[in-house]
Amino acid sequence: MKLSQARRDFYRKKAKLEGYKSRAAYKLIELVKKYGLIKAGDHVIDFGCAPGGWLQVASKYVGADGKVFGFDLKSVSISLSNVLTYVLDITSPDALNFVKERLLREADVVLSDLSPNISGIWEVDHAKQIDLTLKVVEMIPHILKPGGNCLLKVFQGPNLDTVRKALNMMFEKVYLTKPSASRKESSELYFVCLSYFG
Ligand SMILES: C[S@@+](CC[C@H](N)C(=O)[O-])C[C@H]1O[C@@H](n2cnc3c(N)ncnc32)[C@H](O)[C@@H]1O
Repeated sequence: MKLSQARRDFYRKKAKLEGYKSRAAYKLIELVKKYGLIKAGDHVIDFGCAPGGWLQVASKYVGADGKVFGFDLKSVSISLSNVLTYVLDITSPDALNFVKERLLREADVVLSDLSPNISGIWEVDHAKQIDLTLKVVEMIPHILKPGGNCLLKVFQGPNLDTVRKALNMMFEKVYLTKPSASRKESSELYFVCLSYFG
């Protein structure tokens, strides 16, 4: 068995044992521990939230005084008192209004683990994934409070710089990182963005 396969199996088994809906949960745990992205009492938006691993992790960090709002094409079955989930296509023209109407106030944190259906054609998948990410970037001024944080998945490729440039204008600190729970052979990376200028 290849090392990468063994690692994937390790996180899959760990997620099953610890009751997480996806091994993606460990990517968020690692990044929150390292960068302090989410605090107790925060309101968090999670784009591309299905099947719900990140929702479970965010729910623990925000605690009883916080709220997590999840959006995805697919419905999510999760019953946590501080988590609300909605079916939404983020590319639909009324997506921003739909999200704004569900929030109780501007969010402290925006998360995006959005990923298109993978075709296997790298250039196509990269372009589609970056388009989804840019939808989130466009929404940030309308949904994130000044001083807020953001975590965005991106697929590596030439269009990544468009995202980086936009984020550099919007946040005090921007890091590009690959958590150890992310498969080595996958082209995904994460932008960790701290302190939105507003
Ligand atoms: C890698 S999964 C997210 C895993 C999740 N973070 C977790 O912890 O369980 C990516 C998600 O992006 C969603 N997605 C893809 N395109 C979307 C779109 N246009 N609007 C909303 N969600 C979308 C998919 O349905 C999929 O559930």
